[in-house]
Amino acid sequence: MQIPVSSEAHPTASPNFVPEIEIGLLAQSASISPKFLYDPLGSHLFTAITLLPEYYPTNTEKNIFIQYQDQIAHAVGIGGTLIDLGAGNCEKAESFFSSLKPSNYLAIDFSVEYLQDALEKLAGKYPHILMQCIGMDFSKRLIIPDTIAKKQRTFFYPGSSIGNFSSAEALELLSQMKSQTQDGGLLIGVDLMKDDSVLMAAYDDPLKVTAAFNLNILRSINAHLGSNFRVEQFRHQVQVNHVENRVELYLEALEDLTVSWPGKSRIFKRGELIHTEHSHKYTIHSIQQLLKNAGFTTTQIWTDPKDYFAVIYAQ
Ligand code: AVJ
Repeated sequence: MQIPVSSEAHPTASPNFVPEIEIGLLAQSASISPKFLYDPLGSHLFTAITLLPEYYPTNTEKNIFIQYQDQIAHAVGIGGTLIDLGAGNCEKAESFFSSLKPSNYLAIDFSVEYLQDALEKLAGKYPHILMQCIGMDFSKRLIIPDTIAKKQRTFFYPGSSIGNFSSAEALELLSQMKSQTQDGGLLIGVDLMKDDSVLMAAYDDPLKVTAAFNLNILRSINAHLGSNFRVEQFRHQVQVNHVENRVELYLEALEDLTVSWPGKSRIFKRGELIHTEHSHKYTIHSIQQLLKNAGFTTTQIWTDPKDYFAVIYAQ
């Protein structure tokens, strides 16, 4: 089975992320965008995270999907185009194929190699669904090609991936979704604020899978930049920020060190941090407000018994 693949600006060459990475590394408080977590190894490590008992979002969301499958299908409607944002291994979307019966499935992800493998397997199983994939960095701009029918588009954005964005960025992305669907809508999964102990266990798990996932970003950056980060000189660190309502991931330098790459370098002092990810946590009220500001007028909400996670259909 051949899956048509398109990559936004450059169909063959991978986009040049060097300037963006350099700006982050050379800033006084260094940072690396979380999208660089998802190189091929990082994507597999993330899948491993979702299997950890401590990482509650994936399981909680899955249980909500199962329990309210009929209500969700009734809200979304059947037979349209399912647009999967950050599709990864496409497993979550597949769980909706029997109830939503989409005629088209468009899978979008930053990590296109991983996505292509997943989609090729899927296409064989569902020959009646037209499948396409796009490698896209939609954290910058979300553009659905005109070749995809505008009618009955459902954006599927599960897993609380929206949590990676600041509220301004999230508002921008949600507004772009709203403007690119006519009679369709958005099915989104959002993580809710909860006790620190639950958050810390989920983001600093005892098997250290999350630590490996976070540290692997340094290898991903070495590949993009030609830099010489050494993983063993850093440590995974997690903070819960109650002012900004988010979990923050960092890499802490364990000694004074210098990282170099063609033409430039950066000194890190022992204890200095590189910020790698924000995972924003919402309340029912704050996510409803955000969706309203993005132009969505109606919402239906499903949660789990502990109110750990919310699944929302917005139109
Ligand atoms: C994919 C952004 C939803 O924030 O929970 C998991 C990524 N980082 N463990 C999250 C992640 C560390 C995840 N999102």
